[in-house]
Amino acid sequence: MNLILKILGYLYLCAVVQCVHQVSWLPCQFIDEHVFVNEEGHTETELLHREAMLQFGRLGDSPVNPHATTFLVTGSKLDLRRYVQGVEAEQLECELRRYSTDGIHVRWPVKGAMEYNHWFSCTVRHTNGLFTVTSFLRHPSDQTHPGQQDYRNWPAIGDREILITTVAMVIKTQSASIRAGLGSQQKLHCQFDVDHKGPNITLEWHWQNRGERIRLFSHNSRSGQSQGTGVRLKSLTGGDASYSLPFIKMSSEGTYICSVSVIPLFVSLDIGLQIEEPPRVSLNVGPTLSLQEGGEQKVACEAESYYPLDVQIVWNVQDLAVSGQRVGTPLPKVLQNILLSSHKHNQDKTYSLTAFFYLTVSLKDSGREFTCIVSHQSLRMPIRKSFILTVEEPISWMFYLTVGFVLVTLVPILCVLLRYLHSARKRSVQKKPY
Ligand SMILES: *[C@@H]1O[C@H](CO)[C@@H](O)[C@H](O)[C@H]1NC(C)=O
Repeated sequence: MNLILKILGYLYLCAVVQCVHQVSWLPCQFIDEHVFVNEEGHTETELLHREAMLQFGRLGDSPVNPHATTFLVTGSKLDLRRYVQGVEAEQLECELRRYSTDGIHVRWPVKGAMEYNHWFSCTVRHTNGLFTVTSFLRHPSDQTHPGQQDYRNWPAIGDREILITTVAMVIKTQSASIRAGLGSQQKLHCQFDVDHKGPNITLEWHWQNRGERIRLFSHNSRSGQSQGTGVRLKSLTGGDASYSLPFIKMSSEGTYICSVSVIPLFVSLDIGLQIEEPPRVSLNVGPTLSLQEGGEQKVACEAESYYPLDVQIVWNVQDLAVSGQRVGTPLPKVLQNILLSSHKHNQDKTYSLTAFFYLTVSLKDSGREFTCIVSHQSLRMPIRKSFILTVEEPISWMFYLTVGFVLVTLVPILCVLLRYLHSARKRSVQKKPY
């Protein structure tokens, strides 16, 4: 009984560890800035890549990596780990930067906050693009506000320094890049949270493409006012600012920017949306093509209505008759003399392209399989369409010669025979007088 309980206990523990697989530290690249005025009097920024560690814990914890700068994230209402949960630490890329509040100084409205804060932005990306999480780390300081742009006066951070921080704001997207088919419906994921109640949040969605920028939606939590559509206000209060696109058109392509601002913080996430339409592939001949020896046929493979432009069409030929007999099947050969039509622009802005060749057949081509292979970025596997060629022997000249010879020799004989018969009958009629 005791043993069973123990085993159950272990199983439970394992399950918990599995479910709440949380990182307790994350190696980060700290992109520090050295801001200075150059010889011409311009402000220049030099970026310094430094080793850092994002460590989750409590005040007084010893650093995991004593040789790096440690950003110790202590508890707040926001748990950054929840946003990167369920993946291995090796799959995460972490980047820390100083964040300038552009001279705006406000007291951060949480209990025990000091007058002045140093801000850092921390971006954690999943290496396979599953999500991007950007958070703001607040490092309280008793230093008085210097009254000038903070980046002109960045306090030095030592190589082994431990900075005590809390997470003040988080924004996350699970759809950093989207490939969508025409006419489909898409949801652009954006989620945020702030560490205090009733924050004054302004949320906006913008769309941007080729120098054009349009505001799609905006909402302020204090005034309760919204402009535009696409975001469900009910979900917004829970931190879900996802934007819905009910019907994807060619003009939907572009970058969608979800931005959240709580003064003095501003953060935005880009979501790229690319239209992808797979080609429809067809041949101008059926699955079997039979031709007479010496016959000619134009064979075309058309890839229709695809987007974006780049498509690859290859024609292969394989000798099935031979492959059935030998042990080593001959590999398909790529046909060389393929002609391509120019790209056709369709009305819906998709493209079409035809790859064709002229087939002149001889008897040895019979039983060959011709395959058109179309590759496009929208396809996981290329589309293949094939036909099998059968070649029939033409009625040969020997046949005609034989038939001709027979006719030429038989007809005179027949004539002679007929005439003989006729005269024989005449004679017999004359000889019978009764
Ligand atoms: C909320 O923030 C906006 C700027 O983002 C500001 O214009 C507005 O006055 C603030 N509202 C309140 C009630 O503080």
